[in-house]
Amino acid sequence: MTIAVTAASGQLGRQIVQALQEIAGGEPIVGLARTPQNARGLGIDIKPGDYGQPDQLKAALAGVDTVLVVSGMGAPDGRIELHRNVIGAARSVGVRKIVYTSIQGPEKGAGFSAVVQSNRQTEEDVRASGLDWAIGRNGIYIEPDVEYLENYEARGEIANCAGDGKCGYTTRAELAHAYARLITGAEHNGKTYNLHNEPITQAQLAAYLNQAFGTTLGYRSISVDDYRADRVNELGPFLGAIIAGIYEGIRMGAFDNPSDYQSAAGRPHQSWHDYFEALRSPSA
Ligand SMILES: NC(=O)c1ccc[n+]([C@@H]2O[C@H](COP(=O)([O-])OP(=O)(O)OC[C@H]3O[C@@H](n4cnc5c(N)ncnc54)[C@H](OP(=O)(O)O)[C@@H]3O)[C@@H](O)[C@H]2O)c1
Repeated sequence: MTIAVTAASGQLGRQIVQALQEIAGGEPIVGLARTPQNARGLGIDIKPGDYGQPDQLKAALAGVDTVLVVSGMGAPDGRIELHRNVIGAARSVGVRKIVYTSIQGPEKGAGFSAVVQSNRQTEEDVRASGLDWAIGRNGIYIEPDVEYLENYEARGEIANCAGDGKCGYTTRAELAHAYARLITGAEHNGKTYNLHNEPITQAQLAAYLNQAFGTTLGYRSISVDDYRADRVNELGPFLGAIIAGIYEGIRMGAFDNPSDYQSAAGRPHQSWHDYFEALRSPSA
């Protein structure tokens, strides 16, 4: 069974390839990448795989049995067509199964909803493809909060519009393990899984960061409008509105969902205690 992973040059795609190398029992793995040189060092064949290039996708997917499609990064409307290019290429060259990395979140009423809707449309396209399929709805990555620690420290706090809302965060490594199972296990065909760990509040997130890094961060809730202005100022209008929309979604409870992680991954998600203990700095 030949397995293909798209966006193998990205952080999630790379970790899915590595998880497959651990659990797929030596099955051949092909990586697709828009920028192949960014996918070096994985020890697998890397083929050009730009979602905007249908002919490239068909050539790369020839002979593949199962393809894992990582959701794209562009404007929401554009993503739908780009994902359709991958689904169409897979169908046309005889791929038998598609696994898609979707997202949880507010389907309407928040600045993140257009992104969620585009993912829901691709889910529908995958289900209607006529191929076997499995879909994961990812929680929010927790790693960016760890990477943002210096900024939080400079501000002395975490301030955003999530309020008391709980967020089902996850890690790329845990997602990668779950996706390797969805790819290789026929029992997951036709299923859609929420993939995240126990939901936590921003105050709990601050406490975990403090535990790991010896910081003294607190959490302060601010309005959606104020947070959007803050993010747009730092990240620009497109990304700023999306990031603020994610926290708006947390406030609405749209990331506080039951998790199917264990059913998908065959084991529990790493606990937040263990995740942050592994990051603990010597001075903490
Ligand atoms: N759950 C979350 O919290 C969260 C947060 C951010 C994003 N996401 C979603 O999760 C996906 C994967 O996350 P990540 O951490 O792996 O992101 P990442 O490290 O930024 O990687 C994004 C990947 O998408 C590829 N890509 C972008 N446009 C493409 C196109 N037109 N054709 C083919 N490949 C394309 C990039 O290729 P290049 O190497 O050519 O740039 C790169 O490999 C993202 O794309 C986004 O949809 C989820």
